[in-house]
Amino acid sequence: MDLDLDHGGSCLRTLTVQDAPLVVEATSGETARALWGARPRGPYSWRDALAALADWDPRGGRQVSYGVLEDARLLAAVGLMIDDRQSAEVAYWVRPEERRRGIASRAVGAVTDWAHRTAGISRLWLEVNPDNVASLRLAHRAGYHLEGRLPAHCRSWSDDDPAHDEWHDCLILAHTR
Ligand SMILES: CC(C)(COP(=O)(O)OP(=O)(O)OC[C@H]1O[C@@H](n2cnc3c(N)ncnc32)[C@H](O)[C@@H]1OP(=O)(O)O)[C@@H](O)C(=O)NCCC(=O)NCCS
Repeated sequence: MDLDLDHGGSCLRTLTVQDAPLVVEATSGETARALWGARPRGPYSWRDALAALADWDPRGGRQVSYGVLEDARLLAAVGLMIDDRQSAEVAYWVRPEERRRGIASRAVGAVTDWAHRTAGISRLWLEVNPDNVASLRLAHRAGYHLEGRLPAHCRSWSDDDPAHDEWHDCLILAHTR
């Protein structure tokens, strides 16, 4: 699932544990969750970054994250979580100070195209909180269409105990080849 693309002045490539310093730096201004998991909310420590990137190691064959890099600075990341040979969930995150510059639109478009054409995945899909206007606009911009709404399907992760957590509806959007 290795990807290495020229991305119009930046590069889009597979992230590995060696990129932990980039993740630490990129998340330093974050106050919410980033791409790789519900925790931590906010900046990643070295330990957080190493654990996250190890969990997303493409050699596991389960999930992989791709970074958008400009001058060795991590601007954004797109994740691919494999369901089976034909289907994968996509997730994305842009560092706060680089948002609303079209970075996610370009990166999600490029990963979607690459996953269909090169990796041979016919269905890519997203889970989006209906309140996440930015994510919904990005999804539409990248050509994803609404498939349905799952009631109380997604965790807010306000509590580590699922029984005490808040659960919200989730929109499923898909891009098929
Ligand atoms: C969602 C996110 C990835 C968008 O990244 P981005 O690089 O800022 O997005 P883009 O600049 O490519 O903009 C894509 C579209 O969203 C719109 N948009 C972006 N941020 C917005 C905001 N805060 N409010 C309203 N619209 C917004 C843009 O105007 C654009 O719409 P258009 O094509 O109709 O003009 C980014 O806000 C983010 O990382 N958020 C936190 C993580 C997250 O929510 N991930 C998704 C979980 S499902």
